[in-house]
Amino acid sequence: MLVLDMGGQYAQLIARRVREARVFSELVPHSIGADEVRRRKPLALILSGGPASVYSEGAPRVDDALFELGIPTLGICYGAQLMALDLGGEVARTDASEFGKAELEGGTGALFAGLPEEQTVWMSHRDTVTAPPAGARITGRSGSTPVAAFEDPTRGLYGVQFHPEVRHTPYGQDVLKNFLYEVAGAPPAWTPAAVIEEQVERIRAQVGTERVICGLSGGVDSAVAALLVYKAVGDQLTCVFVDHGLMRENEGEQVAETFGGHFRVPLVHVQAQDRFLARLEGVSEPEEKRRIVGEEFIRVFEEEARKLSDGGGDVRFLVQGTLYSDVIESGGADDGLAAKIKSHHNVGGLPADMRMELVEPLRLLFKDEVRRVGEELGLPERMVWRQPFPGPGLAIRIIGEVTRERLEILRAADAVLQEEVRRAGLYRELWQSFAVLPAIKSVGVQGDERTYAYPIVIRAVTSEDAMTADWARLPYDLLETISSRIINEISGVNRVALDISSKPPSTIEWE
Ligand code: XMP
Repeated sequence: MLVLDMGGQYAQLIARRVREARVFSELVPHSIGADEVRRRKPLALILSGGPASVYSEGAPRVDDALFELGIPTLGICYGAQLMALDLGGEVARTDASEFGKAELEGGTGALFAGLPEEQTVWMSHRDTVTAPPAGARITGRSGSTPVAAFEDPTRGLYGVQFHPEVRHTPYGQDVLKNFLYEVAGAPPAWTPAAVIEEQVERIRAQVGTERVICGLSGGVDSAVAALLVYKAVGDQLTCVFVDHGLMRENEGEQVAETFGGHFRVPLVHVQAQDRFLARLEGVSEPEEKRRIVGEEFIRVFEEEARKLSDGGGDVRFLVQGTLYSDVIESGGADDGLAAKIKSHHNVGGLPADMRMELVEPLRLLFKDEVRRVGEELGLPERMVWRQPFPGPGLAIRIIGEVTRERLEILRAADAVLQEEVRRAGLYRELWQSFAVLPAIKSVGVQGDERTYAYPIVIRAVTSEDAMTADWARLPYDLLETISSRIINEISGVNRVALDISSKPPSTIEWE
């Protein structure tokens, strides 16, 4: 099904909720034409909410011909108002806004089948529908909203003033399911297994008998992308894992063991630790570190790609773990209504002049969906649920110059922290938890001896999307265990501190 983005912050959320109901959904610009919609053959359409008033200048509109296609259509909030306006109903401009919880009364009709007639819903609107589209009947109202829901089953038109996609509407997901399953006849068939089957077919069609290369980073995205391609074309794929020596403990070995050992994917494991360390020597400026790691990564990767081509014919395809959120953020799925959020600066971003065609099997998936596909493909739990880890790795968690000794200390401290966080059952709850090594020294005393050594900082945050984050309130007992283990087990550390800053104004990483 297609979600037409009317500029609301909720459009993406609607697409996700539909997918959670196991129906594949895509976000498309509101300006999409009826011909294009017909070509895509969706089973249903949803018009999302949006911040505009239907009466304001430049307010997003849709092609009127959409309503004549006979495709079941659900308007949500602004989407419902637009339907009323375009189809012979009435929308009143009110100055009063309704925001927050409201009680829906008299909920009847297909959308509310099997649900209580009275239920709490979440409202967020200024204008209000006062008469439904011509021929539609009112199927719900609230204290201040005379037309909180309407339907016209003969034309397949449905509208709700409230937001079924937010958790504050307790039966919201059921309303969406009623629309999808009962009204639109869209079966809940979009499962990880179905995704795998479909992607494997697509990859085969794209790649044919050509060779493919894929860079592994240790993260879940590249791992799942690689496994999908391997499932599709087997040994035509070669994975390249560049170990830059800035990974966490055992991470490099784990990638090699999982891909080369367990899955038997042809794997080139490049031991490039010395190269990266040499290039980082004497560098303490954070952006410079990032630039060096990124550039060196590309160089190593290109060298390996060239070797592969020399060895057995051209490699024509390159796998990338681009996600749906990247596609949306880079403007691929909107026409400028939703704000562009963030540019990506991943190590693994490869040079434009590498003349290979991209294979992007995750292009339509959100991160949590990638994880579910990863589980279905048999990827180890540790890799599927790994917390985000920056491309430049430990290089940007050593504040100051990166040296072999500091890397070893930080890696050991981080391993203790990870182990204890997992033992406490908090690993998945936290967005990230890691150790930072500021390259300063302070005085301590251990066994009657004066020490002069590094501190380790514990950084643990909760977050939804890394755009904002709060410092995690780790239990004191856990902090105590982490602190005493790090100081006792790792020589070179005599102090542990806790970072209690949120983002903003701090960032998650220290550099
Ligand atoms: P900050 O530190 O900006 O980080 O709050 C937000 C999120 O992005 C991750 N991060 C990176 N990821 N390459 C990456 O792949 C990078 O250079 C990079 N820098 C930060 C960070 O770990 C956090 O999840």
